[in-house]
Amino acid sequence: MDAIPYGAQWIDEDDIRAVQDVLRGELITQGPVAERFERRICELTGAKYCVSLANATAALHLAVMALDIEKGCEGITSTNTFVASCHTFVHSGLKPVLADIDPRTFNVFPEDLAKRVNARTRVLIPVHFAGQPCDMKAIRSAVGKDIRIIEDAAHAIGSRYSDGTPVGNCKYSDMTVFSFHPVKTITSGEGGAITTNDPALYERLRSIRINGMVKDPLKDTPGPWYYEIRHLGFNYRLTDIHCALGLSQLGKLDRFVERRRRIVARYNKEFASIPCMTTPYEAPDVFSAFHLYVSLIDFKKLGKTRKQVMEELVAEKIGTQVHYIPVHVQPYYMTNYGYKRGDLPKAEAYYERCLSIPLYPKMTDEQVDHVVKHVKRVLLE
Ligand SMILES: Cc1ncc(COP(=O)(O)O)c(C=O)c1O
Repeated sequence: MDAIPYGAQWIDEDDIRAVQDVLRGELITQGPVAERFERRICELTGAKYCVSLANATAALHLAVMALDIEKGCEGITSTNTFVASCHTFVHSGLKPVLADIDPRTFNVFPEDLAKRVNARTRVLIPVHFAGQPCDMKAIRSAVGKDIRIIEDAAHAIGSRYSDGTPVGNCKYSDMTVFSFHPVKTITSGEGGAITTNDPALYERLRSIRINGMVKDPLKDTPGPWYYEIRHLGFNYRLTDIHCALGLSQLGKLDRFVERRRRIVARYNKEFASIPCMTTPYEAPDVFSAFHLYVSLIDFKKLGKTRKQVMEELVAEKIGTQVHYIPVHVQPYYMTNYGYKRGDLPKAEAYYERCLSIPLYPKMTDEQVDHVVKHVKRVLLE
């Protein structure tokens, strides 16, 4: 049996053909395919506007930058996230404030966020961890209407909020960020996007994406070459080569999500009999696209370390991963922002136990059987 990683892409011949078509054409950087990719994301999420970007790290950077927040103010995000959700505050000169998690959903929760809001708080980045949407309505009312909200939905394309509407519609936020890295639900190789309903933010994001260039159709200009720089920017474009792959993959989103959910249901049933393991919780009414299958394992009760468990599974060609080391215990954040162990106890207790078991749509039933058999053996013997 081939090695089974914790996550992987699923590329078919039609995806490859879509990329080849772009390579055979004239425009290979951002062009008409990017526009079609963006329109399709709008149709899927229900948002008015979409801006495709080089990756979600760039998208988070741009999203905070576009809000033009005064330096020295504060931004809040979950400590249980990939560091990019937090680095973005630092890049914009904001103080990063990290929040603790709900031990069942592993997401930030309204009561904890409300405690961290103060007169300097300007922006919040809730992360829809592992694909499970945060309770956005409750979060919006807990933090108040003056705080800008950017949803980090890097894990959550295809997920739905408890009201049944798609993640990314920005009903309770200013912007939503997606990632199309290969382990995510669909991929464009590398890639990211921001959705928004705000036309001014949309224009600003588009211009920051191309070094701050603005071509104003309403302005009397010296000629067609003319553009103005009204603010700084970067080159964060996503190429048509990437967008062709992303667009082709978007056509498979429902099928990929369904396959992920089917594997999750099978794991939940099989692992229910393992006393030291807690299977993932899905909050009532939400629909998670399940980017990850994060189990909690009581390693003390089991009498093995996490490293031992991971090694025993690797011996069976099964890859596992840890999502995430809490951001507040990373040396950079401890040294520069005074965080210490013990500050966010729920996330720290979670980190001691979490283990992501392989989950990706291309997994065959035989591979799922293999994972089930060996996870049970390693955790029950
Ligand atoms: C929650 C979260 N946000 C942001 C990112 C950054 O995504 P990208 O790799 O597309 O830059 C990731 C990547 O894993 C992530 O998991």
